[in-house]
Amino acid sequence: MFEAAVFAQRRQRLMDAIGPDAVAVFHSPPEAIRNGDAHYRYRQSSDLLYLTGFTEPEATLVLRPGAAKHRVVMFVRPRDKERETWDGRRAGVDGAVDRFGADVAYPCGELADKLPDLLSAEALYYSLGSDPAFDRTIASAIDQLRRRERRGVRPPARVVDPREVLHEMRLIKTPEEIAVLERAAAISVEAHTAAMAAAAPGTWEYELEALVDYTFRRRGGVGPGYTTIVGGGANATILHYVENDAQLRAGDLVLIDAGCEYGFYTADITRTFPVDGRFRGPQRDAYEVVLAAQREAIAHVRPGATLDDIHAAAVRVLTEGMVDLGLLPGPAEARVADGAYKTFYMHRTSHWLGMDVHDVGAYNRGGKPRPLAPGMVLTVEPGLYVAEDADGVPDALRGIGIRIEDDVLVTDDGCRNLTEAAPSAIADVEAACRAAAPAAMR
Ligand code: GLY
Ligand code: MN
Ligand code: MN
Repeated sequence: MFEAAVFAQRRQRLMDAIGPDAVAVFHSPPEAIRNGDAHYRYRQSSDLLYLTGFTEPEATLVLRPGAAKHRVVMFVRPRDKERETWDGRRAGVDGAVDRFGADVAYPCGELADKLPDLLSAEALYYSLGSDPAFDRTIASAIDQLRRRERRGVRPPARVVDPREVLHEMRLIKTPEEIAVLERAAAISVEAHTAAMAAAAPGTWEYELEALVDYTFRRRGGVGPGYTTIVGGGANATILHYVENDAQLRAGDLVLIDAGCEYGFYTADITRTFPVDGRFRGPQRDAYEVVLAAQREAIAHVRPGATLDDIHAAAVRVLTEGMVDLGLLPGPAEARVADGAYKTFYMHRTSHWLGMDVHDVGAYNRGGKPRPLAPGMVLTVEPGLYVAEDADGVPDALRGIGIRIEDDVLVTDDGCRNLTEAAPSAIADVEAACRAAAPAAMR
């Protein structure tokens, strides 16, 4: 994906940050069984990918900034003709050195033996808690060092969460990362636009899911960065609806939340559009409210602003709209203050975006929301969800779910919407719905 030098620079930055008296360990997550002996497609941990680009399971990276030699140590699956015939190619220890920047590499079977010596340092940066089996490997290595302390080795006095350092690096995207995110965004825009053209009364939600995911893959993406959501009618009021097995009906809206993962970075776009291509009546008014809230929220994205500012801007416009639509009694300021808007808008407006759809990086500093800085990428995704059985709401709004979500890069002087090419204005959405259905749907 990136040149080896990019990963080398990242490792060096991390090693500079933790200093010569520390070591850091990163391990790939175990392969997950789907059922029997069938596995889910493997996805490397984003931290390990970020530092090495290495995609295979059973990998461990040890960074030792204070070491005279072998500062970058990797444990990987060894080359094995029979296993590779069944399960696919392996880089092996030579590949780890030649292609992935290790100073030295060993077969993963030697990890338990070699790890204690490698962890002899003042501080061990390791993220406890996400992989209990590997936690035990680390604990056992520390225990062995303690037993050998009299012989001059140093068991780590502190175990430190590396996320504090590493996830701050991941939070600020470099130009080459932004270029990859732009590609993920462009493919995702194409998929959403194709779905608008393809949908018609009688289309099944899974047909649109298939079209979206097919578009991701045929453009060279890994696939969806999270399970694609296609919710017609009241299904759109279920935030994480993934059954995608209902038939779309004329007069309903359909909500699609889908983002392509490309080169290990994912987009995250939601669009909501009319199944039969025309917004009408109160449904159109409700859509206008969400669109206005989204535009107002995006206008607040700039260095120094916080995600709370962006959320507050969205909540203000949404709540005013809820009052105008007859969902809530006025005044709107009182409904913001008493939180009544949460009946129809129950999630936050933004999250970080990058290698993970809900990307890493602290949201608060010193108990306060942190100011945005250039290079951060966040979503802006206000919505309005009226449950079918909501109390005291106009019948025409029951079972309507609307969300509009874009991916926004913080720039030096404001922001850039990476996904604005996906139609969101009413006229643009209706035009996209009128376009000829993609050949894959015929
Ligand atoms: N697709 C998950 C989210 O929008 O946060
Ligand atoms: Mn999102
Ligand atoms: Mn989303």
